[in-house]
Amino acid sequence: MKAVTWHGQRDVRVEEVPDPFVQEPTDAVIRVTTTNICGSDLHLYEPLAPFMGVGNILGHENMGQVVEVGSECGDLKVGDRVSIPFQISCGHCWMCDQQLYTQCETTQVREQGTGAALFGFSKLYGEVPGGQAEYLRVPQAQFTHIKLPEGPADDRFAYLSDILPTAWQGVEYANVPDGGTLVVLGLGPIGDFASRIALHKGYRVIGVDLVPERLERARARGVEVVDLSEHEKDLGDAIRDMTGGRGPDSVLDAVGMEAHGSPATTFIQKLAGLLPKAISAPLMETAGVDRMNALYSAIDIVRRGGTISLSGVYGGAADPIPMLTLFDKQIQLRMGQCNIKRWVPDIMPLLTDDDPLGCDTFATHRVPLSEAPEMYRKFQEKADGVVKVQLKPEL
Ligand SMILES: NC(=O)c1ccc[n+]([C@@H]2O[C@H](COP(=O)([O-])OP(=O)(O)OC[C@H]3O[C@@H](n4cnc5c(N)ncnc54)[C@H](O)[C@@H]3O)[C@@H](O)[C@H]2O)c1
Ligand SMILES: [Zn+2]
Ligand SMILES: [Zn+2]
Repeated sequence: MKAVTWHGQRDVRVEEVPDPFVQEPTDAVIRVTTTNICGSDLHLYEPLAPFMGVGNILGHENMGQVVEVGSECGDLKVGDRVSIPFQISCGHCWMCDQQLYTQCETTQVREQGTGAALFGFSKLYGEVPGGQAEYLRVPQAQFTHIKLPEGPADDRFAYLSDILPTAWQGVEYANVPDGGTLVVLGLGPIGDFASRIALHKGYRVIGVDLVPERLERARARGVEVVDLSEHEKDLGDAIRDMTGGRGPDSVLDAVGMEAHGSPATTFIQKLAGLLPKAISAPLMETAGVDRMNALYSAIDIVRRGGTISLSGVYGGAADPIPMLTLFDKQIQLRMGQCNIKRWVPDIMPLLTDDDPLGCDTFATHRVPLSEAPEMYRKFQEKADGVVKVQLKPEL
């Protein structure tokens, strides 16, 4: 089959690889109909390169049709239309019982000390082949799937595997009081959906980014937007001015480790990319994977006694956290990968025909697998109006 494979920093290719097949009784194989490129793939594309292997198949936002099932796949059947959550979880361990599916004790990657295995996500998360391909093997398939109704085209359900529940969890974790105000840092796909969800819940939403079309997309749906490029030095003050001097109840960081700013860490990331892996991987874990600008902004912006919710992924261990300010302002911090199936029952009622969250028109690009290399580049450069790319293996 054809698949999108990783070859080095900013080097992904489309290659022929062996077809996947059922290896365990709990495996299934799906024919992929839609698979998206995610902001998290951009971390693998560049800063997390030391954890990638040449030939790794990318892709964790997958949906399609079941073509093969093992003997222990529960009620999953050949022909079912499914979304596949990006985390592989068993559904019956202690963590899964708590609905902490990203911590599944059956699939935890113990040799790396990390949580549940993830599709297409580097050695840190089990080096499981991803779904930017014609077919995908799904381990723990008895639980790692969401059955979808027939009817609406793929677009409606294309974001259930990751970004829609991620945005939902981000808003839940932000703990906004009724009628309160949420600031969303970053208006990429996660921040955009989080803003839509927060508006739907009746909160006031202020969104911050520096890419003109992303600001415009959010503005068109009723978000008050702030252009970071006009407030590099005074973002906190600008937002305090908009919120009666006190600051917002909650801030959602939908940026993560590749924030605009902090040139010193950019230099370490680039340097690590030039070193042999045995040296660069430990350097990345302990030194500067992260550019922490967005988190620092969040700590400054949130009101005293407020909550910061991190959806953006961070990965390093060496950057200073301003404990004095966190403690003094009495800030709560919540974070983590999204526990996808925890939120699906809340989201499904919004995937109705009137499509209140705008899923059908969310993607800016729908292209064949062969265009993946170009789309990774454009998405990273935020060129050509790219916000969300769907790869369609059948095109
Ligand atoms: N927690 C999870 O389960 C989960 C799931 C998916 C993605 N993510 C993470 O969410 C983050 C966002 O993903 P995305 O797909 O929306 O990616 P993205 O890279 O397209 O979006 C990030 C946006 O932040 C903006 N930005 C950069 N620096 C900023 C700053 N200092 N202040 C405000 N905005 C800034 C960028 O212009 C961009 O529009 C990534 O870190 C991704 O890994 C987390
Ligand atoms: Zn994703
Ligand atoms: Zn489990």
